[in-house]
Amino acid sequence: MLIIRKMNYKELISKLINNSLVTENDITLAAEGHGDFALPCFKYARELRKAPQIIASDFASGLTKCDFIDHVEAVGGYLNFYLSRKARIESVLADCENKSSVNAVRAVNAGKTVCIDYSSINIAKPFHIGHLMSTAIGGSLYRIYKYLGWNAVGINHLGDWGTQFGKLLAAYNEWGDKSRPLTLNDMLSLYVRFTEESEKNPQLAERGRTEFLKIERGEAEAVKTYELFKETTLAEVNKVYDRLGIVFDSYNGEAFYNDKMQPIIDELNAKSLTEVSDGALVVKLDDYGMPPCLITRSDGATLYATRDLSAANYRAETYKFDKSLYVVATQQNLHFKQVFKVLELMGREWAKDLTHVQFGMVSYEGKPLSTRHGHVVFLADVIENTVKKALDIINEKNPDLEDKAQTAESVGVGAVMFFALGTQRIKDVDFNYDKVLSFDGETAPYIQYTRARCQSVLAKGGEIGDVDYSLLASDESYAVIKLLDNFNTTVIDSAEKYEPSIIARYLIDLAQAFNKFYIAGRIITDDKPLTNARLALTKAVADTLKTGLSLLLINSPDKM
Ligand code: ARG
Repeated sequence: MLIIRKMNYKELISKLINNSLVTENDITLAAEGHGDFALPCFKYARELRKAPQIIASDFASGLTKCDFIDHVEAVGGYLNFYLSRKARIESVLADCENKSSVNAVRAVNAGKTVCIDYSSINIAKPFHIGHLMSTAIGGSLYRIYKYLGWNAVGINHLGDWGTQFGKLLAAYNEWGDKSRPLTLNDMLSLYVRFTEESEKNPQLAERGRTEFLKIERGEAEAVKTYELFKETTLAEVNKVYDRLGIVFDSYNGEAFYNDKMQPIIDELNAKSLTEVSDGALVVKLDDYGMPPCLITRSDGATLYATRDLSAANYRAETYKFDKSLYVVATQQNLHFKQVFKVLELMGREWAKDLTHVQFGMVSYEGKPLSTRHGHVVFLADVIENTVKKALDIINEKNPDLEDKAQTAESVGVGAVMFFALGTQRIKDVDFNYDKVLSFDGETAPYIQYTRARCQSVLAKGGEIGDVDYSLLASDESYAVIKLLDNFNTTVIDSAEKYEPSIIARYLIDLAQAFNKFYIAGRIITDDKPLTNARLALTKAVADTLKTGLSLLLINSPDKM
């Protein structure tokens, strides 16, 4: 990804120096108390046959004048640059309004495509809090890439194939209550009952297998019920997606690849990449320190990996992606390494563009999650509880607020999202209601509250007239300006590292810097020019917080 910074000061400074030896990468951030940027001159000493201190002085006298540089100092072999606060403030605030730097980034990225595989739920299985991470990280990356001008393709690679559907079908035919609409919970209990009873009753187990064969053969009755399982699951899961603002462009899951794997298997064979091992067809990966990748079982059945090989090819052909991401838990690390390696061995030039975006584990109120041992925490319940608790807090803090339910929804959902996106994704995280809903911790409510504070000041302040930028040179306001200056680079950085938490961290920093500025002196005073300047800064902060939050799938209520 080509990076265009709002104002690339390093590049600018390197040009002002007028010496071909100096490049952008030679410019560093200045040491504390020595201005904004610095050029260490030691490395030119040999070539120029001069002492570093003399070189620094020479560069200083040969410097091209520029509004952005207030003054320079040659000290101890360094040339230190002090930016003009006024010029920087003006450029940053203008850019917040006219969006010229982000538009430049978008122009560069136009035409690039990223596929993002996220959430990728399993049909007829609970949608629990463990699925939050993939859903939130993928959904956020989808927005981040779009913001930067990419064409993003959101894919929910449904787990909608496997022998378990035969079992569920047998159970549904046997015990299902057809007199009322099926629910996801019904399917869960039917499946549990089937597992228990088939242990004692081998005939039942056999019926599970025959029912699956019927689905595989496409027998109308079986397929109809199988489709009902899918529809029922998706209807319930979509309610959660809607609430979270999660969207997909494709729901092509495992079943979609049923008729698309044979060409891949044939190609693997033709390229002599496969071997038969205990009747199974595998690609050996010993040379790469990995166990073999299973392609078909001894009964001919294909596997999870076979479907992913096929899906990767399908995505490459259909979307012609520049990048293809898989937002899936760390546990599947080996699976993706194997799949990517096999694609590379097949000669897919784009295998290098595949990335497994992994993340750590979620626990709930200090307890690990385990679907198998019954400790299932449904994501829908967590969202509902958080929103309820948000409403309690609002009732306490601001009982007269209009639209309390709507605000509680934004705050509750925001708290859940920030929980998932606020920490480096590789780290394990524990969900705790008090923590995610704290109004003064490093949380969504804190950022939302800061933005609402900006909005209320702006509403009081009225129209913003002409701004004298030199009035924003105080340390508190300049600290805010510097952060605003970094917004787009922060978003680009988070996209390149697939790390929404970089934006989350930034928003906390910006909110804190704004609150310091807010406390340092009144925004609205009798001094009209000063008021104007401070309102302009407040507006830029409000807009940037809102944009940043939206990249984390978080709404910004105007009042809180
Ligand atoms: N359904 C899978 C699971 O829950 C995740 C699928 C991830 N995507 C993929 N292309 N393999 O474990």
